[in-house]
Amino acid sequence: MAKIKSQFICQQCGYSQSQWAGRCPSCNEWNTMVETVVSARSSQISPKSPITPISLKDIKVDENKRQKTGELELDNVLGGGLVEGMVVLVAGEPGIGKSTLLLQVALKCKDVLYICGEESASQVALRAKRLGKISEVSLLETNNVDEAIAKIQEIKPKVVIVDSIQSLVTTDLTGGAGSVGQVRECAQRLASSIKDLGSSIFIVGQVTKDGNIAGPRVLEHLVDTVLWFEGDRSSNLRLVRAIKNRFGATDEVGVFEMSEVGLIGVSDPSKLLLAERVTKVPGSVVSVILEGRRPLLVEIQALTTLSQLSISRRVAIGIDANRLQMLVAILIRRADLHLGDQDIFVNVTGGIKLADRGVDLAICMAIASSFLNKPMPEDVSAVGEVGLMGEVRKVSGLDKRIKEAKKLGYRVASAESGKSVSSAITKLLH
Ligand code: TYD
Ligand code: MG
Repeated sequence: MAKIKSQFICQQCGYSQSQWAGRCPSCNEWNTMVETVVSARSSQISPKSPITPISLKDIKVDENKRQKTGELELDNVLGGGLVEGMVVLVAGEPGIGKSTLLLQVALKCKDVLYICGEESASQVALRAKRLGKISEVSLLETNNVDEAIAKIQEIKPKVVIVDSIQSLVTTDLTGGAGSVGQVRECAQRLASSIKDLGSSIFIVGQVTKDGNIAGPRVLEHLVDTVLWFEGDRSSNLRLVRAIKNRFGATDEVGVFEMSEVGLIGVSDPSKLLLAERVTKVPGSVVSVILEGRRPLLVEIQALTTLSQLSISRRVAIGIDANRLQMLVAILIRRADLHLGDQDIFVNVTGGIKLADRGVDLAICMAIASSFLNKPMPEDVSAVGEVGLMGEVRKVSGLDKRIKEAKKLGYRVASAESGKSVSSAITKLLH
């Protein structure tokens, strides 16, 4: 009989110890330590390849040996394609497109084993039909990770796709599917099972509302690459960002558009984002952001109306609400705009969320443009961080931004052209 050993694992952060505690010593959350039975067998599953950290300098990467996934945007994010033994975690909210993208990969690559724990094989087949292509893909319908691993060892596929890690369990643990212990153990076993074969594996991880990869962030340490799926479900645009990548840069972003026939890579996202822009209307300003290393043109819209409430509202969609409050205060004090009694709404079209401070000037210009009822010149985009003194500051990668703007016929009003927000308003909105 295998020796049974129990561990108390924090359901919040994945910290484990052999004794119970009311409060997790690691994340200080209360009542999160849950007893999980760990069978000694689990550590013997692959005695030849214990999971140990690998030194980066020992990993030999032959750039030419990278296997293409068939999706150019995805290959770029991965750093040029898949590397032998690569473990990729694909995380994102439910319904964002993870299964769709990976099924597309399965249909385009050779030698793929698709482990579907979440959907039935017939559901996957239906989706494949919708994507318009049926090819040789081995589907394995199971919730048992050890069964799945046995199959992987048997048929030795080049690429393994697991959808999703939260649906798999090992009977060596007592916890339910999706619990921290199960998710971690299953991912660990899968990762070590493919390392020996020289295959690569995509593991889908569901993300909870608050943005954590359901329960265990521990998965992030265990994999080579973490791809984060972003996008608003009401819009078709999807960004795939590498937030960790042992085999490439982490500032790569892949852009996709969700269509009737699946996810389509977008090589020119700026054009897509500005496709529906209405020009010569007050309140619309184009800015150039840097998503990783990639410049993107986005449209910032603002609307100001006289408030009917005693406290006027500032509503920010796609930008940080505090930043909007700050920029409004700067406009009031430094540009002499009487916005105190105005409700102010700011929206970034395309459903993308902006963290780049280079959009400050565009936000200010959009608000001023709506308030003064004067449209921005059609061919001008605004780039620059705005400081509390009302000064426009330089941003990184200005050359790249100017180049991208030029491609679509925009000039860039930036730190070079205006010294302060108020002078930019006087210069551009008259
Ligand atoms: P899905 O890949 O199932 O999301 P996840 O695996 O991340 O939970 O994506 C499902 C959504 O994508 C669903 O709302 C329908 C939409 N969709 C399309 O718009 N077009 C398509 O061709 C497919 C397959 C899905
Ligand atoms: Mg799915």
